[in-house]
Amino acid sequence: MTRPLPDDLLKVPHRREVPFARLTTLGVGGLCRWLFEPTTEVEAQAFVRACAREGLPWRVLGGGSNLVVLGDIDVPVLRLALPKVVQVDGRRLTAPASHGHIALAEAAAAAGLSGLEFASGIPGSLGGAIRMNAGAYGREWVDVLTRYRFLTPEGELVEKAPEPGEFKYRWSFLTGGRVVLSATAQLAVGDPAAIRIQVAEYRARRGTSQPLSKRNAGCIFKNPPGQSAGRLIDQAGLKGLRVGDAEVSPEHANFLVNHGRATAAEFAELMDRVRAVVLERWGVALEPEVEIWRG
Ligand code: FAD
Ligand code: EPU
Repeated sequence: MTRPLPDDLLKVPHRREVPFARLTTLGVGGLCRWLFEPTTEVEAQAFVRACAREGLPWRVLGGGSNLVVLGDIDVPVLRLALPKVVQVDGRRLTAPASHGHIALAEAAAAAGLSGLEFASGIPGSLGGAIRMNAGAYGREWVDVLTRYRFLTPEGELVEKAPEPGEFKYRWSFLTGGRVVLSATAQLAVGDPAAIRIQVAEYRARRGTSQPLSKRNAGCIFKNPPGQSAGRLIDQAGLKGLRVGDAEVSPEHANFLVNHGRATAAEFAELMDRVRAVVLERWGVALEPEVEIWRG
């Protein structure tokens, strides 16, 4: 970004030249040249409004657990740093988008509220989870979401209930410059012991089927309708395929893992190779689930 940034944008707390290796769970990528971390909704709104007024492109980052960044990102990146306050009102739980997703599931369990057990093994932020309509074990966010607040690309604040068509499997309309600020889940009163048992069962299932000891970005490809991407990749014989330090996990074929020194380019090449083999072998074009940012 050679253009100087406007003064009102520069008033929003920010850092320079932060490696994406530190901002993403996969641990690769170039530099984030401008990382804006507003601590209030007003600052977040100022960021979006200034960018809209100047016609500046920008991006929004959460916990970086569903992201592969290729190269340096020169445009401003917004990462909310709102105070992590959870409000419990009867069976309704509200939290800011910057709240840790797993920590939120734990807060619900601690409050004796059932419904977020599925979220207990999904890392990242609440905002990223709403944007992705994250889910597991037959449940996804839209099942419990009752209200959410977001900024429009022009920086207007909207608060609403979800409507049909806004959320689908690993997709929501909250893209293209919309920023989730907070969300409310409608939960059920549960038995704390039963909630703990369910969470432990989900975690155990993950522990045996997913490569949690290595850096990864969760499932790389979406499941095609009625099929499992992991099974298609596995049955194409690709487990263990390696490009440099990036590998198709021998534990779960839809996870690519970083053995420590992988580069973004290695992950990009590995993804291309996996897609090409699955297309040739099974005639199925896999669609990335991870977001890919190109510098
Ligand atoms: P990021 O990776 O930071 O961003 C993802 C996308 O969301 C980007 O497009 C970004 O621009 C956008 N975004 C982020 N914050 C906001 C915001 N406030 N407003 C608008 N857009 C925003 N996912 C599942 O669904 N189910 C699983 O079971 C699951 N298991 C996983 C297990 C592991 C070990 C890992 C590493 C990942 C897993 N994931 C899973 C993927 C990932 O955790 C989820 O997609 C998560 O919800 C992404 O949240 P994030 O904050 O990390 O988003
Ligand atoms: N399978 C294989 N080989 C593999 C991996 C899986 O044969 O290498 C088979 C399994 O044996 C099983 C089927 O494929 O019969 C499905 O596998 P699994 O139960 O692991 O679920 P998945 O469809 O691969 C989905 C989500 C996960 C989520 C789990 C649990 C997608 C793309 N993935 O995985 O979400 O945690 O279900 O609900 O929807 C993510 O989105 O990042 C993610 C990790």
